[in-house]
Amino acid sequence: MAQSTSSTGNQPLIELRHVDKHYGDLHVLNDINLSVDRGEVVVVIGPSGSGKSTMCRTINRLETIDSGEILIEGEPLPQEGKDLARMRAELGMVFQQFNLFAHMTVLQNVMLGPVDVLGVSKDEARERAMDLLGRVGVAEQADKVPAQLSGGQQQRVAIARSLAMQPKAMLFDEPTSALDPEMINEVLEVMVRLAQKGMTMIVITHEMNFARRVADRVVFMADGQIVETGTPDEFFSHPQTKRAQDFLNSIKGH
Ligand SMILES: Nc1ncnc2c1ncn2[C@@H]1O[C@H](COP(=O)(O)OP(=O)(O)OP(=O)(O)O)[C@@H](O)[C@H]1O
Ligand SMILES: [Mg+2]
Repeated sequence: MAQSTSSTGNQPLIELRHVDKHYGDLHVLNDINLSVDRGEVVVVIGPSGSGKSTMCRTINRLETIDSGEILIEGEPLPQEGKDLARMRAELGMVFQQFNLFAHMTVLQNVMLGPVDVLGVSKDEARERAMDLLGRVGVAEQADKVPAQLSGGQQQRVAIARSLAMQPKAMLFDEPTSALDPEMINEVLEVMVRLAQKGMTMIVITHEMNFARRVADRVVFMADGQIVETGTPDEFFSHPQTKRAQDFLNSIKGH
């Protein structure tokens, strides 16, 4: 059997080892261990305040940690400076609020990072941006400003903007929870296609159908800990812990 000796071959793309974090007395992340392989889709669920967003934000160092390690392709997260900026660009992040630049057109929003951070020429950035806007179904909105778009369209632009940086992985923090119900599916469909194309994704969401359909693994968090992890079928059909059972019962019918 051929053994890969490449330095990145068998390594997880993202790895958290014994990560701890406090906010004052609150133990917001308690010995978090999580490893995400290339192409894997991990859905993170759990009650409000359980630390899901905090965990996600530590991965690209929007939050610091007290102890433990976070490795990207086996390398520790850079502390600061250019290396940190480069690494951040490699991890796309999409939030509940779309955070588009209000005074720029959709096209300018998607071109900005590649031109300013990656040093791509404007012509090339424009071409790539239009391609991405087409892929998320909003190419015809390219010259509008965000306020002229629906929430679902804005969130799809936000996804295109992240993808324009050619990230190694995408982190989604409740990307559909600020959307009107009729717009949720158009955003989820974009995410499903991204997953099918092999993008590595960590997705915090309450959309259980999405989790069942797309997740390779579900991670259930409560009180700052990963309480349970399994395939969607294992987790949704046979939750092992009382906390997961209670949580699943509490969201049924929503
Ligand atoms: N900057 C902060 N300072 C102090 N406490 C914070 C800060 N950010 C978050 N917290 C607290 O940490 C805990 C975890 O918050 P976090 O946002 O990670 O939870 P979550 O699982 O994402 O919740 P939700 O489902 O409501 O988004 C909460 O109790 C929250 O109040
Ligand atoms: Mg959150």
